[in-house]
Amino acid sequence: MTRLRTPVTDLLGIDLPVVQAGMSWASSCSALPLAVSGAGGLGVVAAGPMRLPELARTLDEVAAGTDRPWAVNLPLHRAGADEVVDLLLERPPPVLIASQGGPRRYLERFHDVGTRCLHVVASVEHARKAAEAGVDALVVVGAEAGGHPPPAMVSTQVVVRAVVTAVPDVPVIASGGVADGHGLAAVLALGAGAAQFGTRFLASTEAAVHEGYKSAVVAAGVHDTRTVGRGLGVIRALANDFTGRMLDLEESGAGEDARRTAFHAATLKDAALHGDVAGGKVEAGQSAGLVDAVLPAAQIVERIVAEYRTALAALPQPCDD
Ligand SMILES: Cc1cc2nc3c(=O)[nH]c(=O)nc-3n(C[C@H](O)[C@H](O)[C@H](O)COP(=O)(O)O)c2cc1C
Repeated sequence: MTRLRTPVTDLLGIDLPVVQAGMSWASSCSALPLAVSGAGGLGVVAAGPMRLPELARTLDEVAAGTDRPWAVNLPLHRAGADEVVDLLLERPPPVLIASQGGPRRYLERFHDVGTRCLHVVASVEHARKAAEAGVDALVVVGAEAGGHPPPAMVSTQVVVRAVVTAVPDVPVIASGGVADGHGLAAVLALGAGAAQFGTRFLASTEAAVHEGYKSAVVAAGVHDTRTVGRGLGVIRALANDFTGRMLDLEESGAGEDARRTAFHAATLKDAALHGDVAGGKVEAGQSAGLVDAVLPAAQIVERIVAEYRTALAALPQPCDD
């Protein structure tokens, strides 16, 4: 098994600095996290949309299916987040990746049960606050990301470098726009200790989304995503009837009520589970344009390592004469 050591792999006890992003529905299952952790990365169960009994079953499946580290992603704003926290404390995952909300709400209780706590941030200010609160590492998300990019739309390259500089003692995982080993090499060069891959693993055999969703990601080019829903919890999704309707409303200066109604009329679930790629929220990052095939997750990890080697070998060395 290939190993690539960084402060993040040392902290988490994984072989490779490859984190599969928590993605509602797509990784709200055991198959994808198990495949990624089995390949030497960090697999992540997305607890966001899961009911408690289903989540409990999935946690048990993952715990029984691997002796390698894995994680749970918990968006703290989800309905019933406190009950999910209680469930996770009963069945502690090796790693928790919390998004939205502040880390003080959960940190001490998870540290007490031996869970490593990572917090998702999108600015230097929030990174500093999370570091002061005592998180073990930061996931830093830039504008290219699928799902919820930061409203300020600062690119991954800039925000990761700014956070690494501002909070040098806390390991950083870069998220947004990284889909291959070349992107991994780039974010490690910025000072991150790993990359988080979302859209790349959407197009994996194990991702729990409709085949139509996966095909749409593979078919998309780098210009084919849109950001819609400003002020409502902005999302990046593949351009379709839904994003077209939202952009028409935004450009025509429609009031918040009309925009809110249109925004909530479409869901990620419609696209992910029912394959409504025309009318649903087909959340995906700009890196959809870098994804060329649906592959088994373990093969994706292998490819990332091979591309990383190629990227490193091609880098010019400084020459002083
Ligand atoms: C379909 C989809 C669902 C997502 N769901 C979640 C989620 O439940 N929780 C979360 O913290 N982030 C979520 N994200 C964001 C990812 O964790 C990650 O930050 C993002 O995918 C990285 O950008 P990339 O897609 O360019 O790799 C989601 C992203 C996508 C594409």
